[in-house]
Amino acid sequence: MAARKVFVAGNWKMNKLVAEAVTLAEDLKPLVANVTNVDIAVCPTYTALYAVGKALAGSNIQLGGQDAYVKESGAYTGEISPRMLLDVGCSWTIIGHSERRHILGESDAFLNEKVRFALASDINVMFCIGELLEERKGGTMKDVLERQVVKGLEGLTAADLDRVVVAYEPVWAIGTGETATPDQAEEAHVFVRGLIEKIFGADAAAALRIQYGGSVKPDNAAELIARENIDGFLVGGAALKADSFADIVNACA
Ligand code: PGA
Repeated sequence: MAARKVFVAGNWKMNKLVAEAVTLAEDLKPLVANVTNVDIAVCPTYTALYAVGKALAGSNIQLGGQDAYVKESGAYTGEISPRMLLDVGCSWTIIGHSERRHILGESDAFLNEKVRFALASDINVMFCIGELLEERKGGTMKDVLERQVVKGLEGLTAADLDRVVVAYEPVWAIGTGETATPDQAEEAHVFVRGLIEKIFGADAAAALRIQYGGSVKPDNAAELIARENIDGFLVGGAALKADSFADIVNACA
């Protein structure tokens, strides 16, 4: 299997005022400055992006948005475009986080539009998928993941996938303190990689980075990253403190 560079991203969600976000970024920089074998990114809330981007300039930490709309500009109150994210220094955006799917009601079709528009706008995408607890318990986990992957990535080419990372985030593990076991995560990642192989071919599947997300902490990162198909993390709560996020990055380095 092709060696995939581990990618650890912090999703700060709707947390941190500008000054707090800049402090977190400044605190994080020296803690991961020596890491060269892991890609690192943080995704602050919109109001802090510009200031955090300036604070991170010249560092090994990339900047990402948490979402992006499907138009470049115009009368879309409250939305933000990929071009605006690029303008403040982002190279990534999250699309399809479970909080947007389940709290904001975003559909597979809408998320597919977002993925396509983001890629067409030259921003890289962390595309999130994941089943609810009742779906796992009810035995439909694989159907759900398949639907999210097939519909969410519809219309993309294998070449487009170079600029996509998939984040497997079981909804029951997000913010709950309950992490998927390495076996559960690996099983889902193997399944997702198999889907990618069916749709985009073996090379694209071997190259695709699949992050795990859901209560990743410094004390469980090492056993998860040791698994063959886990290529990094999308971290929520533990990304809000410089030491815990740096410990996760360093566990992967
Ligand atoms: P968590 O969030 O690490 O707080 O569980 C992960 C995520 O939602 O990306």
